[in-house]
Amino acid sequence: MCGIVGFIGDQPAAPVVLRAISRLEYRGYDSAGMVSVSNGRIYFQKDVGSIADVQRKHKLDRLPGEIALAHVRWATHGRVNRVNAHPHFDCRKQIAVVHNGIIENYQELRAELEGRHKFVSEADTEVLCHLMEDYIEESGSLEEALLRAMDRLKGSYAIAMVSSREPEKIVATAKDCPLIVGLNGNSHFVASDTFSFLDQTNEVVFLEEGEVASLTKGGVSFLNRHGEEIAKEGQKVDSKWEEATKEGYDSFMLKEITEEPQAILRALMQDRGLITELAREISRARQVVITGCGSSRHAALLGSYLLSKLGGKLCHVLTASEFHYFTDSMAKDTLVIAVSQSGETADVIDGVKRAKARGVRVFSIVNVVGSLLARVSDKVIYINCGPEICVAATKSFIGQVVIFYLLAFALMGKLEEGIRKLELVPRQIQENFEQIDGKLKELAQRTKNENNFFYIARGLNLAIAAEGALKLKEISYIHAECMPAGELKHGTLALIEEGTPIVAICARDDTFYETLNSVEEIKARGGYVIGICAENNDSYDEWIRIPEVQEIFYPLVAIMPLHLLAHHVAVARGKDPDRPRHLAKSVTVK
Ligand code: F6R
Repeated sequence: MCGIVGFIGDQPAAPVVLRAISRLEYRGYDSAGMVSVSNGRIYFQKDVGSIADVQRKHKLDRLPGEIALAHVRWATHGRVNRVNAHPHFDCRKQIAVVHNGIIENYQELRAELEGRHKFVSEADTEVLCHLMEDYIEESGSLEEALLRAMDRLKGSYAIAMVSSREPEKIVATAKDCPLIVGLNGNSHFVASDTFSFLDQTNEVVFLEEGEVASLTKGGVSFLNRHGEEIAKEGQKVDSKWEEATKEGYDSFMLKEITEEPQAILRALMQDRGLITELAREISRARQVVITGCGSSRHAALLGSYLLSKLGGKLCHVLTASEFHYFTDSMAKDTLVIAVSQSGETADVIDGVKRAKARGVRVFSIVNVVGSLLARVSDKVIYINCGPEICVAATKSFIGQVVIFYLLAFALMGKLEEGIRKLELVPRQIQENFEQIDGKLKELAQRTKNENNFFYIARGLNLAIAAEGALKLKEISYIHAECMPAGELKHGTLALIEEGTPIVAICARDDTFYETLNSVEEIKARGGYVIGICAENNDSYDEWIRIPEVQEIFYPLVAIMPLHLLAHHVAVARGKDPDRPRHLAKSVTVK
């Protein structure tokens, strides 16, 4: 949430920065802004709306100069309005700051500074601008002033700034938020995500906690937290530039859902030795804790079922935002598996750091190469599904799930056999998609005005039902709730009325008849049952076919219909599935 890009080089900076920040729209789209420095003067534009909206209105790419910063905002402190958009300034508009994260003690700092400084916004970031204004008078340089200001800040931040007092540089720092420097001859980038500039360079330096980078045309230098100069070598990130375009699809979400069969094959491209080694660690560990948020937590949940059912290993799933309440009881020989598409989710990073502080080994399942989570983990498995742009996770979810299948097969000592079986699934998903998509669109039209949906399943498919409910609520704004089918009669059944839609995943496995019993209980109370099943049944009001597969693979074939249903309902309600309200991808605040 919130994206930053900075560029300095031998060419007009604004068009370069605009291109780069546009790729970070997934990090925030409530407002955007850009600032440049030319001939010792600061120029800026900012406004409400996405980066494309602000560009249309203010022609950001025409800002002069060879140094510029840009920001896309996901509001934390202060309403969505022009004043709260970034950049923010000191009183004399000599220092311009863009920031991702939260300055937790901003109220105290603001109270301290307010008499002497004029605050114009509600944003926490503004306290940093005024602190800088004080310290720059006493310090010799922007860097020194920033280091002093950092001593006063609590919270998490990635910060980049320019100043008319030192118009030849960008100064940047980060703590618990990603910030990456890109090196390209005489041109340098600083950004929240390498993806923004990967078409220009793949030579990067990751800023570690509290380090300060100074970018000038002559080069980039680094200071540690104590202001001492440090050498940091650039490293090549091993991911290819893939321009993420909609390729004719109406939304990134639809494109990414249709890539799900491919995502399975890409996730299968693993170093077998690494998978076997990690399975061995799972087997040896006294306790295994799997953690993640949102869709990644659902993948973790399915992972726990797979590791138990196939691998005979009982694992605990902890929602990452609750992780630290359990850290004290973690023994040293616990293994933590952290799951995250972005590798940046603040709650996941926090949990992992707490676990590591107790000497616990951590391995992670990540999509974004070189992300913070990948760097702090002892071992990392990449799911290789390529850039996922839509805020709602889809193809990354299936990629994460595939890794758990691999680990479970490896635990059984049947990795190769498992891979051979998994390789057959994508074609079945693809063929089924072509058969059911039209029906899902009709169903979306029929149900688009509902206020509530319920999702039920048992066993392995419970996590898929949870994923379906999350997807529906976050992009269509219809309340959706998932529960184990057996739990219905312990309370929720009271909410079933004539016509209430219930999505029931009725896998043809050992849960089939029991799930069908729950379906009957719903029917008896007037519920409208949407059966996700390999064959039709009189109890379903609507049947959404899934292919017949070996029992353990039903979760894989049930995901896509549920993602599609959520997408089609959102579209039928006139909502933009790529930009769910109030949300952003990469949740870098706790
Ligand atoms: C739901 C969704 C979110 C993310 C969650 C974790 O569609 O996208 O719930 O799954 O914010 O994000 P990562 O996987 O990046 O840690």
